[in-house]
Amino acid sequence: MATAPACVAALTGIDYRRAPEGDFGGRVFLRRVAADGRVSHHLSLAEHGAAYWLDHLAFREALRANPELRSRSGGLKRRLAAKHDDVEAYTRAKTLLVREALLAAGHTPRSGLAASSDERALGTLCGMGADEGYFGERVAAVYDAHSTGMFDSSVVEPAVDRLAQLAGDGRALEFAIGTGRIGLPLAERGVALAGIDNSEAMLERLREKPGAERIEVVSGDMATTRVAGEFSLVYLVFNTIFNLTTQDGQVACFENAAAHLRSGGRFVIEARVPELQRLPLGQTVLPWRADPGGLSFYVYDVVTQRLSGQHFYLEEGRVQPSPIEMRYAWPAELDLMARVAGMRLEHRWAGWRGEPFTALSPAHVSVYVKA
Ligand SMILES: C[S@@+](CC[C@H](N)C(=O)[O-])C[C@H]1O[C@@H](n2cnc3c(N)ncnc32)[C@H](O)[C@@H]1O
Repeated sequence: MATAPACVAALTGIDYRRAPEGDFGGRVFLRRVAADGRVSHHLSLAEHGAAYWLDHLAFREALRANPELRSRSGGLKRRLAAKHDDVEAYTRAKTLLVREALLAAGHTPRSGLAASSDERALGTLCGMGADEGYFGERVAAVYDAHSTGMFDSSVVEPAVDRLAQLAGDGRALEFAIGTGRIGLPLAERGVALAGIDNSEAMLERLREKPGAERIEVVSGDMATTRVAGEFSLVYLVFNTIFNLTTQDGQVACFENAAAHLRSGGRFVIEARVPELQRLPLGQTVLPWRADPGGLSFYVYDVVTQRLSGQHFYLEEGRVQPSPIEMRYAWPAELDLMARVAGMRLEHRWAGWRGEPFTALSPAHVSVYVKA
């Protein structure tokens, strides 16, 4: 990097400009800008052996080794280039894809591709590699098959009916839209829908499905990413508030929901009631299922509210672990988060049909309204 200033000076003479927001991990970033303001080239100067250099080479090797990754990466570039000039959205989506690919290839990213300190503070699950197995390529490839029960029309339709009714004639935004289990049928009803998710692998599955073109799909973290415009409904289903593994992250998610809502708009959360009543004093593990397809356990830490889902799938005679890290929250804690974010609880039901919530309800659908 000692020679970088001289290189930058020479490049400035042929229309390159420094773009310091792109400097990270030992890289100096420049753009070549034509007289009409259009950017014709991006150029990175990197020190041999620096974090950016190593991450970049590892991504190149992953692309060489994996034709499917090549086509996803190319598809992402073309799609985002064709859609808009939003450099920030492009960078966010590309960073997620590269990070997931590196982790899946067993390379821990060190440069700007590693989790940011903000993401770490908010407890965003972004270590989405094959080993971590959260919502990276390996999980995305089997997500719909492993969650077949959740795709059943008896589960999906009441949720979609309720969400369509709550959206009214306004726009709706799904946090953590995943492969579109709820978003696709809701958009099919004519609700104008946007969806955020921070797994490019999950979003890729969504984009492949018929009807996805109706949805404005945005790569990003539901705790921090803003989608332009105002919404009458933001919703977050299938326990996914717990995927933010810190209280700060969950509060930020409520605040982000409120920031998208018009006054009187609603934020809907569907989540399990933590099974603390089933835990005898001192016990930490609860079985969830045991069937020919696999085994699942939940590990509770009642001090930190950490909840680890330990799922094991039996596939072709082999055991495939698929762990997930969460932070559980009692419904009353979620209500307080809503108040912190300027919303109040309007309804708490045991299910989407408005069933009464009781001491025995295993899950809740909670509707918060913005002042
Ligand atoms: C259990 S799936 C639910 C997907 C979909 N809503 C459904 O009901 O099938 C959880 C989703 O949350 C996404 N996710 C987890 N943490 C996230 C975060 N901090 N920001 C955005 N998406 C996140 C994952 O990538 C995954 O797609």
